[in-house]
Amino acid sequence: MTGYSDRVMDHFMNPRNMGEIADADGVGEVGNPACGDIMKICIRVEGGRITDAKFKTFGCGAAIASSSMATEMIVGKTLKEAWGVTNRAVAEALEGLPPQKLHCSVLAEECIHAAINDCRTKNGLPAWAEGPEAGE
Ligand code: FES
Repeated sequence: MTGYSDRVMDHFMNPRNMGEIADADGVGEVGNPACGDIMKICIRVEGGRITDAKFKTFGCGAAIASSSMATEMIVGKTLKEAWGVTNRAVAEALEGLPPQKLHCSVLAEECIHAAINDCRTKNGLPAWAEGPEAGE
């Protein structure tokens, strides 16, 4: 009895999209100071849409499952849509996380945002602090 859903265990045991993208259009790397875990997400962006995403996570099982699920959720989305993939959405897609592990999915949301902002700044656009402005 792990307290984890079958979906979390599946993404932990068989992570999707693990690895890196050479010459990625955006790279996000974030750490959780409380536990020391580190997550890195690379994205390939073509025509304003994420066409590939890969992750490397040095962390707990919930963080690995969250990053695996997050990469699956952002592929096919525009940067604006991907920004809206919240930690809650990731946790729901994983059929829930134990309350004490919800912060691990926050790392995935922060990492997506960091990768998107890296892509934007590489293209001469300002980073989004709180997300896309109206009309963007
Ligand atoms: S315990 Fe550190 S991210 Fe899960």
